[in-house]
Amino acid sequence: MATPLHIVVLAAGQGSRMKSSLPKVIHALAGRSLLNHVLTTARGLQPDGLHVVIGHGADQVREQTPGSDIQWVIQREQLGTGHAVAQALPGIPETARVLVLYGDVPLTSPETLSRLAAVIARDCLGLLTVNLSDPAGYGRILRDSRGDVTGIVEQKDATPEQLQISEVNTGLLGAPAEKLKRWLPALSSNNAQAEYYLTDVIALARTEGLGIQVSQPDEPEEVQGVNNRAQLAQLERWFQHQQALMLMAGGASLADPARIDIRGRVETGHDVVIDVNAVMEGEVVLGDRVHIGPGVVLRDCRVGSDVRVDAYSLIEGARVDQGAVIGPFARLRPDALVGRNARVGNFVEIKKSSIGAESKVNHLSYVGDTTMGEAVNIGAGTITCNYDGTSKHHTTLGHGVFIGSNTSLVAPVTLGARSVTGAGSTINRNVADRELAVARSRQRNIPDWVAETDDDQDSKKKGED
Ligand code: UD1
Ligand code: MG
Repeated sequence: MATPLHIVVLAAGQGSRMKSSLPKVIHALAGRSLLNHVLTTARGLQPDGLHVVIGHGADQVREQTPGSDIQWVIQREQLGTGHAVAQALPGIPETARVLVLYGDVPLTSPETLSRLAAVIARDCLGLLTVNLSDPAGYGRILRDSRGDVTGIVEQKDATPEQLQISEVNTGLLGAPAEKLKRWLPALSSNNAQAEYYLTDVIALARTEGLGIQVSQPDEPEEVQGVNNRAQLAQLERWFQHQQALMLMAGGASLADPARIDIRGRVETGHDVVIDVNAVMEGEVVLGDRVHIGPGVVLRDCRVGSDVRVDAYSLIEGARVDQGAVIGPFARLRPDALVGRNARVGNFVEIKKSSIGAESKVNHLSYVGDTTMGEAVNIGAGTITCNYDGTSKHHTTLGHGVFIGSNTSLVAPVTLGARSVTGAGSTINRNVADRELAVARSRQRNIPDWVAETDDDQDSKKKGED
């Protein structure tokens, strides 16, 4: 049986440079907390134990981090990374390999982590390092004349010569539990920060003749930590760029790969075209040849092939079928279902309604709690009055119904196939198939309502000439 793998995620620090009332690790990157990113990647390694060390804002971190597989470990005082890992050790068997991750280093790739975990053995540690042109702030990797790692020195404890070293500790490392259980309780805090440094285990391993296998990430951003909001924004951009590259690799054209934000998962067919500043959240599926206009927001929705979503539309929890045209400035709310080749135009809001195939709701309308047949035409300014202040009511429109402009449909109400309403009607009784319903007061024209002016008399005279 393979040695069990236990992952310890350090997330007890406050992150004071974020200047936030939220603990740092629950700040969001691409719509998910930093800690969530780390946990997702960690789970990919199928660990036998997942331990998260929390301290600052512990309750908030727990509440906002789902996962029954997590063993929460409280570190009451933040006495250093060595102390933090030590708190998790009682829950880890002697025989395990332990991989230490940071809750504020969100974007390490699964491959990088697998490489790091793979080298951990009873007699070998794994260390993830990176070479930085500006190593300021990091622990530096010390090597002997043969190039073997001998230890790590923290920035604040380093000599001027050691500060010149560009190879730094990412903080991520792996070690056998058995050794950590012996080493960590014996660490000293006799250093510049009066902390128990996890990094001291490297020198201990070297002294005891264990191997230290160094690996590096493919991209430096993978090991970039988040300490302030500027770094968070930088990582967000890098991550978004990676996602843009993936979309393009999958056959989508992006007007500008730097101007798209994906906060979830997007699946695209072939020849999808996405204009600038689209935001996609949750699970979004776009069929072949879908065209997404500028500024469109898509959240948890399925968009069929050949659909066009024009500028500044918002689609949330909805389904749009093949060939439909949405927007500009349309809003599809949860449980909107737009049928094939249907049209939902500008300033139209659709909620919990199905719009039949080939139907049109082109301008300035609200359609809620409605079942609509095919080839229905909804005139501009039509409103379904679905709410009486207490309950929601349903509107049913048969095939081929024609709703005149500015009609109020007072639900519950049913209009039969090919029925028609006159513009400006308030419809509160059912209408049978092929009937015309006109429900508005008749127009009366009252002559000479307004007194004549001299101008009126002049123009009358001219007319007589
Ligand atoms: C640490 C490393 C340093 C490395 C750097 C990379 C040590 C001694 N130093 O330094 O070599 O270059 O990370 O970013 O390990 N944490 C706790 N409890 C604690 C202290 C820290 O949970 O008591 C957590 C923090 O929340 C953070 C992580 O551990 O997620 C790292 O702590 P931090 O204080 O940022 O360590 P650095 O001084 O940056
Ligand atoms: Mg740090």
